[in-house]
Amino acid sequence: MADDSVPVVAVDGPAASGKGTIARRVAQALGYHYLDSGALYRLVALKALRDGVDPDAPDGVAALARALDVAFDGDAVRLDGADATDAVRAEDVSAAASRVAVHAPVRAALLARQRAFRRPPGLVADGRDMGTVVFPDAAAKVFVTASAQERAARRQRQLRENGIDVNIQSLLRDIQQRDARDAGRAAAPLRPAEGALLLDTTNMTIDAAVAAVLAAVRAAGAGAGGRSIRG
Ligand code: DC
Repeated sequence: MADDSVPVVAVDGPAASGKGTIARRVAQALGYHYLDSGALYRLVALKALRDGVDPDAPDGVAALARALDVAFDGDAVRLDGADATDAVRAEDVSAAASRVAVHAPVRAALLARQRAFRRPPGLVADGRDMGTVVFPDAAAKVFVTASAQERAARRQRQLRENGIDVNIQSLLRDIQQRDARDAGRAAAPLRPAEGALLLDTTNMTIDAAVAAVLAAVRAAGAGAGGRSIRG
């Protein structure tokens, strides 16, 4: 059962902004739990692709989301009992995740699963609507951005490290398409929560971004329930 007195740090932002890395590091420094909410949308998308369900069909996808058999184990995710950590990161799954995330019934189906991650001593939640919809009472809210060009370059570097060479223009186009869909949808569109700390990481190191988030958490008076803050 989620406990509303448990502090939440909400880290939202567009694809490849660095929010995942920042949120994980902040969770580690605070000794908090970590929720990668994007992984849930990716798992729904993967399940839809595998089962031949149209990602653009709200009712079919919502039914999958409600019945989703998933497990999180550190950075690993399992779908229907089998490891899906790499599968959910594939480009076709990324694109389908952004499409299934448009549907309000799909988002509603995932709400309770996300809130269940709120456990002592605290939670760092990473996504698009953590501060606006899922945890509107979060103790600290951060909105991480970076220019689309920089995000495409980061994605390209990441793929190269895995031996995959992808044209930067096509990555840029994908990122811009996902941004438009995530920000333009009617249900929980991507936007900074009221009072969120805006963090543009285009010219910022991860260390500096993590330090800025930890300072915001401290200023909000959260973080004391976990381990001592290392920044
Ligand atoms: O953060 P990510 O790239 O893993 O997210 C994948 C997709 O899921 C993204 O295109 C939008 C969607 N998403 C969402 O709508 N709400 C969230 N809280 C997290 C992700």
